[in-house]
Amino acid sequence: MRKAIVAYDRNRAIGANNDVPWMGRMKMDIQRVRALTRDNAIIMGRKTFESIGHALPNRQNIVVTHRSLEVKDVTVVGSMDDAFRAVESGRMPFVFGGQQIYEQAMGSIDEIIATEIDTYVEDADAFFPELDPSWHETSREHHDADDDNVYPFDFVTYNRY
Ligand SMILES: NC(=O)c1ccc[n+]([C@@H]2O[C@H](COP(=O)([O-])OP(=O)(O)OC[C@H]3O[C@@H](n4cnc5c(N)ncnc54)[C@H](OP(=O)(O)O)[C@@H]3O)[C@@H](O)[C@H]2O)c1
Repeated sequence: MRKAIVAYDRNRAIGANNDVPWMGRMKMDIQRVRALTRDNAIIMGRKTFESIGHALPNRQNIVVTHRSLEVKDVTVVGSMDDAFRAVESGRMPFVFGGQQIYEQAMGSIDEIIATEIDTYVEDADAFFPELDPSWHETSREHHDADDDNVYPFDFVTYNRY
């Protein structure tokens, strides 16, 4: 199974100025991303990788770029097809963003693991695609804001059928 994992606001915004707007302020989201992708493979665009700045430990990091990069602990590939082909045996591929990568992966993934954050980012410049009618919400879990999570949010799963 191929999955995408993403957090977006009420306008489906995922980023602003090559950063995640709520970074460091939504602890449960980060914990869930870490737990689900641990020992698996994450596929990200070069801009998202640059924004993170290093390979995330305990998982295969695959970066898609037209450039010839050599980065420690990173599998560098030149296309989305090559990204899925590069996933090491036994690892589940998670499409990790950003907008360009989500857009190109939509046709080849089966599940979206979303954190829907109850806020509006004003200066957003990266967005998660709208879902076509083949996608169906299959689970939703609401969480109120608290000291570790500044906005209310829902953990939502979408599947295609
Ligand atoms: N909220 C979230 O869950 C979340 C998750 C991830 C990212 N983000 C945010 O998303 C934003 C970045 O998204 P973005 O769309 O600007 O950039 P991106 O998708 O992260 O990266 C785009 C880059 O990927 C490479 N690329 C894309 N398609 C390719 C292809 N078919 N073949 C080869 N290379 C390809 C290109 O790199 P080259 O230019 O090097 O060729 C392109 O410039 C940031 O704000 C980030 O913080 C948010």
